[in-house]
Amino acid sequence: MADRCALVVGASRGLGLVLANELVRRGWRVIATVRQERGELRAGERMSIESLEMNDVGEVGALRERLAGCSLDLLFVNAAIDRGDLPIDQVPTDMFTEVMVTNALGPLRVLEALRDLVVPGGTVAVMSSEQGSVSLNTEGGYELYKASKAALNQLMRSYATRHAGDGHTKLLIDPGHNRTRLGGPDAPLEPEESMTAVVDVLEKQAGSPGLRFLDRHGETVPW
Ligand SMILES: NC(=O)c1ccc[n+]([C@@H]2O[C@H](COP(=O)([O-])OP(=O)(O)OC[C@H]3O[C@@H](n4cnc5c(N)ncnc54)[C@H](OP(=O)(O)O)[C@@H]3O)[C@@H](O)[C@H]2O)c1
Repeated sequence: MADRCALVVGASRGLGLVLANELVRRGWRVIATVRQERGELRAGERMSIESLEMNDVGEVGALRERLAGCSLDLLFVNAAIDRGDLPIDQVPTDMFTEVMVTNALGPLRVLEALRDLVVPGGTVAVMSSEQGSVSLNTEGGYELYKASKAALNQLMRSYATRHAGDGHTKLLIDPGHNRTRLGGPDAPLEPEESMTAVVDVLEKQAGSPGLRFLDRHGETVPW
């Protein structure tokens, strides 16, 4: 168990940073990606840092080449953005494109490019949100962000169907509303507590193939 290896995409700050550190604390080896700024992420004996702008296809390919020979027990795409709370008709087209590419297309490109590094019985996971649930969307607000997470969930279902026979555990994770730059200062949850719970879920789900959309308690989130 001590040699389990995880790749966490988007670990410069917020939930990705805390997730990467929690995995190391539990004895995982972690490869964590950042863009230009490392933020608070620190390399260490069990933590190595790679550079990745997730939306740059060339950078994704270059990362795949640098990781040749690596065996991943967990491939976790955490990176995403939010661009505020405009009604959808007031969202500029370039903002719509940026959020959809970052939150839906980018994560799936990363999964497709790196999935062959995931060991048999390994896990591929993406940070989603309850906000991506179509059936739970009964209150207004954050229309673009919600649409991007719904698109992510839909693309992950297509991915899971396409790769149904690969034996990987496939997870969409709802971390709850946390105090980060994205979640805001008034969010009710501490990232340290939430990511401890999320790693519990990841470890419990390991080795159970198929796609699940789970919250940090391991409960199913309705599509
Ligand atoms: N916080 C919440 O309440 C909450 C609730 C539900 C779901 N989530 C989800 O949890 C995940 C993490 O959110 P967070 O609250 O920790 O957000 P955050 O503090 O804003 O951190 C976002 C992370 O994603 C990275 N990132 C963004 N765009 C990227 C790109 N194109 N390429 C590479 N990295 C990129 C950022 O890197 P830089 O530092 O370089 O910008 C940063 O490390 C997201 O998927 C978010 O949707 C959060």
